[in-house]
Amino acid sequence: MPKPVVLITGANGEIGRSLLQTVAGHGGFDVITLDLALPPESMRPMVAASYAGNIMDRYLLDQVAAHHEVDMVFHLAALLSARGERDPELAHQINVEGTLNVLRMATNQSVRLGRPVRFLFPSSIAVYGLPSPDEKRALGRVREEQWNLPITMYGCNKLYCEHVGRYYTFHATRPGAEAHAPRLDFRAIRFPGLISAETSPTGGTSDFGPAMIHAAASGVPYECFVPPDARLPFMAMPDAVRALMDLARADRSRLKTCVYNIGAFSLSALQIAERVRKAFPAARIEYVPKAARGAIVESWPEDVDDTRARTDWGWAPAYGWDRTVDEYLVPALTAKYGVTP
Ligand code: SER
Repeated sequence: MPKPVVLITGANGEIGRSLLQTVAGHGGFDVITLDLALPPESMRPMVAASYAGNIMDRYLLDQVAAHHEVDMVFHLAALLSARGERDPELAHQINVEGTLNVLRMATNQSVRLGRPVRFLFPSSIAVYGLPSPDEKRALGRVREEQWNLPITMYGCNKLYCEHVGRYYTFHATRPGAEAHAPRLDFRAIRFPGLISAETSPTGGTSDFGPAMIHAAASGVPYECFVPPDARLPFMAMPDAVRALMDLARADRSRLKTCVYNIGAFSLSALQIAERVRKAFPAARIEYVPKAARGAIVESWPEDVDDTRARTDWGWAPAYGWDRTVDEYLVPALTAKYGVTP
């Protein structure tokens, strides 16, 4: 029997690289990738087919759909929050119009295959917009339906696409299609800031956490663009990838919603810096706050309430902050950069 086909868009990105290794390592899927460039040479043996191109290219997506029976999509391609503020229109094009193209392709595949294509979408804490630092501190853990008032284009894009995914899953009718024709099966996770040992992030607002660690591990000084008390929720990449896999495999009948918060730990820039200095005593970290990026961090919650994910599909983080540093980051970064702590 042929294996189910999994399409990963943005496969060369921060989440994509880790997810690709996990899905390919699982052995039960044929993985195809779509990104602006082909995957790095080392990853090519993991994929059944790769497409180099843009999610804005509907013809390319039609080609992917014509050549493969795609059962599941992890749509990771996006322009992140800080980069998006430099060019909001481009962010809208990629994050909304591009996502719409991929949603359309997956919806058509659901009809063609006669079964719902599962569509996994990484949303973000960027969908929240808290009105003030005082409100942020008073609120603590935010629930999915609270403060959906994003202040970045990226946050607006993610929030809107969550709604469009829900629309295609439960409400859209296609002219000429039977009432019970298979629809898309859209599932989104609102991720906190992610910390990967594999790549140092670019273009995001939560980058100060992981970037500080990569800088220390590679022996270069780091200018932190938020003040020491700036606080966000964070998560280790292995937990983020596991969450995507677990939600992808969850039985639809158990899911009461399309959109889930997930949390792991909440840290200030100072707490990250202190722990990084402990692991890499030669770390040089200086605070050079940038007002615009600081304002975005202040608008995002300091932690999330993930009760729904825990109840509906058994979410629980495996990595706390100490385990993230001791068992994941330090061994991997030491091997990667060759600098002894
Ligand atoms: N980590 C992302 C960013 O900072 C948010 O999802 O843009």
